[in-house]
Amino acid sequence: MHIQVGIIGAGPAGLLLARMLHLQGISSVVLESRSRPYVESRIRAGLLEQGSVDLLTETGMADRLYKEAMVHEGIELVFDGQRHRIDITALTGRKVYIYGQQEVVKDMIVANLAAGVPILFEAQASEISGLEGERATIRYTHEGKEEVLTCDYIAGCDGFHGICRDAIPPQLMRGHDRIYPFGWLGILADAPPTRDELLYCRHDNGFALFTMRSPTVSRCYIQVPPDEDAENWSDDQIWSELETRLGKHEGLTISTGKITQKSVTAMRSYVAEPMRHGRLFLAGDSAHIVPPTGAKGMNLAISDIYVLSKALVAFYKKNDASLFETYGATCLRRIWRAQHFSWWMTSMLHNLPDASPFDAKRQVAELYTIATSKAGQTLLAENYVGLPFET
Ligand code: FAD
Ligand code: DHB
Repeated sequence: MHIQVGIIGAGPAGLLLARMLHLQGISSVVLESRSRPYVESRIRAGLLEQGSVDLLTETGMADRLYKEAMVHEGIELVFDGQRHRIDITALTGRKVYIYGQQEVVKDMIVANLAAGVPILFEAQASEISGLEGERATIRYTHEGKEEVLTCDYIAGCDGFHGICRDAIPPQLMRGHDRIYPFGWLGILADAPPTRDELLYCRHDNGFALFTMRSPTVSRCYIQVPPDEDAENWSDDQIWSELETRLGKHEGLTISTGKITQKSVTAMRSYVAEPMRHGRLFLAGDSAHIVPPTGAKGMNLAISDIYVLSKALVAFYKKNDASLFETYGATCLRRIWRAQHFSWWMTSMLHNLPDASPFDAKRQVAELYTIATSKAGQTLLAENYVGLPFET
């Protein structure tokens, strides 16, 4: 079978690309190694930038989002016994949306399948080739059979552990990496959110984040050692640690309930350069990872696809291949700024295991600098709400 664009991975990046190409009459097939129930229930990110929501709206995939998402106009920084609200909307004119990544993925799958875009679940890509030749080839296994797909271009949307990044010759590839000496223990709980807005908390015991999924479901994260086993934490210990880190800040009382899910995520910053090699384009987590403190991972996957879809549409509709040449550089400008923001939020709010009292005092001072200055708040708000999409 030959198709215009072969897409590997049915995460937010691959599914959005399939939809954007379909709307322009460009054919694609999505290959996904996992089952549909698995990808639809994988708990991950939860915060969408305004620009991401605008793109989901333009592509006809935001109807349920507008009914169910929680729209937020601010966040609170919590440190040194105080809470400081940052009014994101007053400072930027824009908003952010709380809507679980698995809900975004469900909406994207429904839109693609309804339009007849093929998504092959449990189709594991094993090898890609022909990247420098006349056409590209994807070998994959589906329903126990070895299959081959040929295509004009391959979109490597297969996440951090996929196969596409490694298909770029190592002498051309440069990976920029930073591994953090801590992770996040994340929980979902049947508990109403402690506050209407997200709380980002710095404490001597470590970072804590209070977010939510609905008026009855809280999502909370606490900084833990990177190799921590979530099973080492009983529900009581988790609530007690959240209370220690967040409670007593201007009378906050945290709301508790039954914990329904818990897992530990390691924290890493990574950027692969280049993002294109011949007929292969990397997008989303296959090309970069951010620590989650700035809520940028899913949003960067979406902004990469905005750039890639424009390049593919220019080629197929106007025979103009120039945007292929600039794809990587255009994405990387925004990616590096999101990397900086994610690193900055992480370093400002987490405890390094070997931090000295000087480091702790300096960190609190930095938080005061941001929280008490309109310029500081604006810098944080502009990055948090999302930089403009470029082409
Ligand atoms: P993915 O969503 O990873 O999708 C890649 C897809 O490719 C997967 O479905 C995978 O099964 C498939 N695949 C891989 N290899 C193959 C193959 N060989 N053949 C076929 N298919 C293949 N971001 C935030 O902004 N905030 C958060 O709170 C947050 N929390 C996170 C928690 C966890 C545990 C993880 C892992 C990530 C988190 N992220 C968070 C990051 C965010 O979820 C990712 O940035 C986002 O999923 C990237 O989308 P993607 O489409 O590029 O990749
Ligand atoms: C969520 C996760 C984040 O890392 C973040 O910064 C904001 C929200 C979330 O899961 O809702």
